[in-house]
Amino acid sequence: MKTPVVSWDTYARKYDMLIQYNPFYQRLHRQVFDLIKDWQIDNDNTILDLGAGTGNYSIRLAQQFPEAQVIHADKDAGMNEVAHDKMIEKGIENLSILESGVEEMDFPAGSLEAVISIHALYAFPDPVEALQKIHSWLRKGGKALLVDAGRVVNVLDWQLALAWHFLREYGPAKTWQIFREGKEVSRQNAYIRQMQKDGVFWTHSYEEFEQTVRECGFEILDGGITFRGVSDWVLVRKD
Ligand SMILES: C[S@@+](CC[C@H](N)C(=O)[O-])C[C@H]1O[C@@H](n2cnc3c(N)ncnc32)[C@H](O)[C@@H]1O
Repeated sequence: MKTPVVSWDTYARKYDMLIQYNPFYQRLHRQVFDLIKDWQIDNDNTILDLGAGTGNYSIRLAQQFPEAQVIHADKDAGMNEVAHDKMIEKGIENLSILESGVEEMDFPAGSLEAVISIHALYAFPDPVEALQKIHSWLRKGGKALLVDAGRVVNVLDWQLALAWHFLREYGPAKTWQIFREGKEVSRQNAYIRQMQKDGVFWTHSYEEFEQTVRECGFEILDGGITFRGVSDWVLVRKD
C-alpha cells in the first residue's frame, strides 16, 4: 500500500484546535516559554522559528522579545496564512513570515541569535542537514530549543486521554462536538503516524535525538522527554 502523505495545508485549517483544546499541546507551549524565559536577546537580534506552523510559538516569541526580529519560517502556504492573519489581528510588527522549505532556506553564517523548532524536525526531508544549517546560522554562543516528536503515537491512548479531559472540562455534548470538529486533525495525525511507521518521517529515542544534535556540533545544556512521552527536547548552545 502506498504511504499516505500528510497535507499540512489541510491540517492548517483546523490546526489551532490544538492550542484551543488540547491540554498536552497547551502544556508543551507553556513548557517551551518557561525553558526560554531567561534568554537575553539584544535589540534587533534575530530569532528563527523553523517549521513555525500557524504561529503559536513565533507570535508569542515576537511578543516576549519585542526588541528582537522574529522570523517565522514554514514551507506551507496554508499554515503561513493562518499565522499571518493572527499576526495582523494582534498588531505584531517584529515578525516576518518566510515561506520556504528548510531545504531551500539559507541565512548568513552566524547571523541568528536564537532558534526554536517545535515538532517540525521529524517532518523535514533531511533532519540532520537541517540541524547542521541551524548550527551554521547561529552566532557563537547562540542558543536553540529543539523539540521533536520521536515516537509513533498510540492513537487509542491519546483519544482516551483527550476524551477524559474534555468530558471533565466541558461535558459530553461539547466533547462530541470537539471530536467531530477535530476529525481533520485526527486524519492528518494518522497520516503522520503512517509516515513515521514507513520510515518517511524521522523517529528516535531521546538518546538518539541528543546524540544527533551533539554530532551536529551543539553543546547540550539541558534536555528531556515531553508530550506524554512522544517527544524529546534539548536546550543547546553553539560553542
Ligand atoms: C506539526 S507542525 C508544527 C508547527 C509548530 N511548530 C507548532 O508546534 O505548532 C509541523 C510544521 O512543519 C512544517 N514543515 C514540514 N516540512 C517542512 C519543510 N521541509 N520546511 C519547512 N517547514 C516544513 C509544516 O508545514 C508544519 O507547519
